[in-house]
Amino acid sequence: MVVCLLPSSFVRTAFVFLCIMFIFPALTESQQTGITRNYQFDIQMTNVTRLCEAKSIVTVNGQFPGPKIVAREGDQVVVRVVNHVSHNITLHWHGVRQLRSAWADGPAYITQCPIQKGHTYVYNFTIVGQRGTLWWHAHISWLRATLYGPIVILPKLGVPYPFAKPYKEVPIIFGEWWKADTEVVISQALQTGGGPNVSDAYTINGLPGPLYNCSAKDTFKLKVKPGKTYLLRIINAALNDELFFSIANHPLTVVEVDAVYVKPFATKTLLITPGQTTNVLLTTHAQYPNANFFMEARPYVTGQGTFDNSTVAGILEYENPKSLSSSSFKKNLPLYKPTMPVLNDTSFATNFSEKLRSLGNARYPANVPQTIDRQFFFTVGFGTEPCTHNKTCQGPNGTKFSASVNNVSFVLPTTALLQSHFSGKSEGVYASNFPIIPLNPFNYTGTPPNNTFVTNDTKVLVVPFNTSVELVMQDTSILGIESHPLHIHGFNFFVVGRGFGNYNPAKDPARFNLVDPVERNTVGVPPGGWIAVRFRADNPGVWFMHCHLEVHTSWGLRMAWLVLDGSLPNEKLPPPPSDLPKC
Ligand code: C2O
Repeated sequence: MVVCLLPSSFVRTAFVFLCIMFIFPALTESQQTGITRNYQFDIQMTNVTRLCEAKSIVTVNGQFPGPKIVAREGDQVVVRVVNHVSHNITLHWHGVRQLRSAWADGPAYITQCPIQKGHTYVYNFTIVGQRGTLWWHAHISWLRATLYGPIVILPKLGVPYPFAKPYKEVPIIFGEWWKADTEVVISQALQTGGGPNVSDAYTINGLPGPLYNCSAKDTFKLKVKPGKTYLLRIINAALNDELFFSIANHPLTVVEVDAVYVKPFATKTLLITPGQTTNVLLTTHAQYPNANFFMEARPYVTGQGTFDNSTVAGILEYENPKSLSSSSFKKNLPLYKPTMPVLNDTSFATNFSEKLRSLGNARYPANVPQTIDRQFFFTVGFGTEPCTHNKTCQGPNGTKFSASVNNVSFVLPTTALLQSHFSGKSEGVYASNFPIIPLNPFNYTGTPPNNTFVTNDTKVLVVPFNTSVELVMQDTSILGIESHPLHIHGFNFFVVGRGFGNYNPAKDPARFNLVDPVERNTVGVPPGGWIAVRFRADNPGVWFMHCHLEVHTSWGLRMAWLVLDGSLPNEKLPPPPSDLPKC
């Protein structure tokens, strides 16, 4: 409420005018309930050629990357998905909080059965309290390799960004390109127990760029004007690789991550894990620079397995004010390349993560839970499973690679958990005794135990509505330490603490940031370290949490939270939509 009382009538007139200017946007914002945005997504096979090889891939509407969803905060999004291919499909709206719309979340066998060939499912959700960049992707097996696209969430009408309005906005999506069929790659790996093959290229907006053989014509070009500011909406949709990104001679200003504003900071390079999004401002040189600039992405690698060590490049190209044709790439111009961190630069990764802070002002407060109701401690990392079908498997010492949370390698059920929960038929589908601490504690980052076998189970962790949760996730050294980007559905984590070695409950909480921790849906557990997060379980439903490195998810580094209904009508999960697919 703004009160304007001033003595002189002249001054009063002027101030009343100013007051109206301030009050008016606030009124329109609260009165505006949002509109409905309708999309039709036809899942179909499409021929695409990259690296001189044609391939039939699964797409939405024949587009690769898939179509962009645009909505304002407060809008309802309705996506009608029709599956025309023989693969079972689900789509997930990664990072959308899905308040009381768990049926629209999308992870296969968690919130829904897959959409079978010839079937349709309508995803219906409202975007509440979020603005920035998110993305959508397939959430079954490895089909997200080609089924992904941006979600752009604009602020409510009349509400400005908390930074200068950019001249233009451009989505930049990183992906991985495989010559092989990724469904074959993962199913063979799970059979042999060994590590899956790696991708052949990284892509920017579907294009591998000039550093790969037979690929120069498939290069992403960002055409810019001098003296302007561009908002790049950067998304890492790669399957298995965290990425560094840098543009030669152009520092970037990070302003938002995972659809939450952050305190702006400048950086030459950024780090983005699969599942994360980062909005940055790019300010172009004031004068036409007579040069071209590479933008590059290449992996940040902390594990011991093989990986795709290639680099994707795109070109930042200035329009020449003096030349009539602005379009063609001038080969004769000097080309600048960015200096990238070394592949295993964990100190860069640590510094970068620690720079991320919630904007945390009056308008965009960081609502980090100050007190907690429940504390959980999860180990995340690798393990093994005995070789069953073959005589020897291709994993460690003839076993099969596995991965787990608190030594439970999560087994996907054959029907959807949310449906079983809602209909009260959990028996034979899931157990509610997910371990809240490791059952066999060990020196997590020291010498691993002799027995590295995991247990295979479908267990959920049940919490009452509105529980204030603190969760510490600890990497282990079993089969080598590695960074794990943990993603939670239905919520955002506040990252209150992180460190290397074993978490120390006696000392570490004293250093927690409860003021302006970054809030995001995907957080990197440091290699050989831990991360402490908090969230309020204010969203009834079954919520998947998993490593967003697809190979680790496939090995079982995944679990589910079951958040019970609250007592009030608006604290309950509504019944499922009538077209919910059946298993
Ligand atoms: Cu982007 Cu469960 O995933």
